[in-house]
Amino acid sequence: MKTKTKPLFLKYFFFSLFVSIPILLLFSFQSLRRKTTDPPPGNQPSGDLRIRPGYTSYEAYLQLQLNKTLNPKLRKIWTTRDWDRKINVFAQFFQDLKQKQLLKNESKALCIGARVGQEVEALRRVGVADSVGIDLVPYPPLVLKGDFHNQPFKNDTFDFEFSNVFDHALYPDKFVGEIERTLRPGGVCVLHVALSRRSDKYSANDLYSVRPLTEMFGRSEVVHVRTVDGFGLDTEVVFRKKKLIGRS
Ligand SMILES: *[C@@H]1O[C@H](CO)[C@@H](O)[C@H](O)[C@H]1NC(C)=O
Ligand SMILES: *[C@@H]1O[C@H](CO)[C@@H](O)[C@H](O)[C@H]1NC(C)=O
Ligand SMILES: *[C@@H]1O[C@H](CO)[C@@H](O)[C@H](O)[C@H]1NC(C)=O
Repeated sequence: MKTKTKPLFLKYFFFSLFVSIPILLLFSFQSLRRKTTDPPPGNQPSGDLRIRPGYTSYEAYLQLQLNKTLNPKLRKIWTTRDWDRKINVFAQFFQDLKQKQLLKNESKALCIGARVGQEVEALRRVGVADSVGIDLVPYPPLVLKGDFHNQPFKNDTFDFEFSNVFDHALYPDKFVGEIERTLRPGGVCVLHVALSRRSDKYSANDLYSVRPLTEMFGRSEVVHVRTVDGFGLDTEVVFRKKKLIGRS
């Protein structure tokens, strides 16, 4: 009897090991995978575009954006030390777009989220005289007051729109919808975005590929996507609003 129970016990022991080890391995592998791929708690994943958590309301969002835009120290830097340096970099980008026939001296141009308007000044310097910017806080005469979630312009107004603040949009679909609404058919939108690095605490979204953009720009086609070095932003995405057939 004794000699028989021992192997039987061992048999059960080895059998349970045989069954449980793969299960344990599977679980530990899954928890490892979860750790490396899941977004932080509270983050709402939406493909390659994620809205940052922590904005309790649109008012709270505006308050935070205004805190940066109205910061007197930052405004001083933007209008003094940064002024010419930034205008020169923007002017290079715009010259390049002119060479590619995406921007003309005669274009009516808008810069979205322009703060003190260095990009607007750059457009004017390269010959695009009819240029203006919008931001929550105006900086006349270059920048008018306006929220990019609800542009203060009529449909089909601009030939060209530029923005490097896509990451500040709390409602990216509204940001894009307003661009497509105010661009004329055939008009060009140039966005500078960060794909490979995360931007500052004032950002409201994180973008991990251009796909969410191409999906949202439903009334436009992609002209080009290229790498740029634009104040921490690494990618230029250019869209052209489609011309409607059979409508004016
Ligand atoms: C904005 O700044 C004001 C005072 O400078 C402060 O009271 C307020 O809490 C700040 N708001 C946010 C959202 O940081
Ligand atoms: C556009 O304007 C710039 C600056 O005023 C000028 O140098 C350039 O010749 C103009 N280009 C065309 C095609 O008119
Ligand atoms: C402006 O465009 C939006 C959509 O892009 C459309 O819903 C609206 O009817 C247009 N308004 C006018 C006055 O045409």
